[in-house]
Amino acid sequence: MFSSLRYEDGVVHLLDQRQLPGTEVWVACHTVESVASAIEAMVVRGAPAIANAAVLSLAASAKRRATNWGQRQDDLDEFRSELKRLASTRPTAVNLFKALEVIEVTANRMPLAASRLEVARHLELEAMRICAEDLATCKAIGRHGLDWLKRRCTKNLRVLTHCNTGSLATAGYGTALGIVRALWAEGLLSMVYVDETRPYLQGSRLTAYELSQEGIPYTVVCDSAAAFLMQRGEVDAICVGADRIVANGDTANKIGTYSLAVQAHYHHIPFIVAAPSTTFDLGLSDGTGITIEERSPEELRQIGNLAIAPAGAPVFNPSFDVTPANLISAIVTDRGVIDPVVGEQLLKVLGAAVVCS
Ligand code: MRU
Repeated sequence: MFSSLRYEDGVVHLLDQRQLPGTEVWVACHTVESVASAIEAMVVRGAPAIANAAVLSLAASAKRRATNWGQRQDDLDEFRSELKRLASTRPTAVNLFKALEVIEVTANRMPLAASRLEVARHLELEAMRICAEDLATCKAIGRHGLDWLKRRCTKNLRVLTHCNTGSLATAGYGTALGIVRALWAEGLLSMVYVDETRPYLQGSRLTAYELSQEGIPYTVVCDSAAAFLMQRGEVDAICVGADRIVANGDTANKIGTYSLAVQAHYHHIPFIVAAPSTTFDLGLSDGTGITIEERSPEELRQIGNLAIAPAGAPVFNPSFDVTPANLISAIVTDRGVIDPVVGEQLLKVLGAAVVCS
């Protein structure tokens, strides 16, 4: 297991996920702007990993200011404009906004008399705590998901997954892929079907890369082969991640998740969403309020430098879709499993989760 993110001496190092599986290139980010641009360009992606990179960049920036003292008001203004810049990068995953909020609260709580060095140290500790918590959270999701599946399925499982929800998308271990890892460790997994996940290919490039590194058996399928596999009885469960889950359980995740859920429903296959409690936005009552990011048309018009559509072809490229709660069999969180997926059960499992909208 590895991580796509390192923090060393006030510098955020990101494993460039655009270049995987071909080359492992690390990008050193010395400023908040370089991390914000890296998030937009998908050097780092995946809801928890984006949040982790963002808060580490804020801590690093505060640290740099600490050695180059200015006026306190200037520092606060700069800090706020950095928060704003990071919040403007990608709109759908709520983890980013929650992590930024935690860091902002930490900064605001510092006594006026605190030296800037102390402020910087506090932000750094808080950012590192957020990353450490993310890893612990993923392992808890793995355990809960394993228990839930064990109670329902007796034989070695064939699991289908979408996008990348593994070590690359988190501080390590992963969410839906964390459940896959836990099943594998218990000897309960026989195959992971990896949706290639058009158009950005997070499945075939990143999930397949992670699974191959760990020796977990996998087969890449194009997105449109998933329903056929289900029809042939070759999928026992579907495990996906989430970018935002709202109060009634409606879930935003990588484009294509909704169609998988519809197919799973038709074929009576358990459809499981795995997510940390930081992915919940209880400030929204249902999925219609979720902002869906639309990405560049070029992601559909070309692969690398190769044109796969006419130049300037009109394109609709939503990066996420929303799966209604009634198509989800269970939501596995670090705090337990939400099953059935209804608002009441969600509140029961999450307890006092932070509200955000
Ligand atoms: O556009 P991406 O690659 O950032 O989208 C990622 C996903 O949709 C993941 O499923 C989600 O963020 C959960 S990652 C643990």
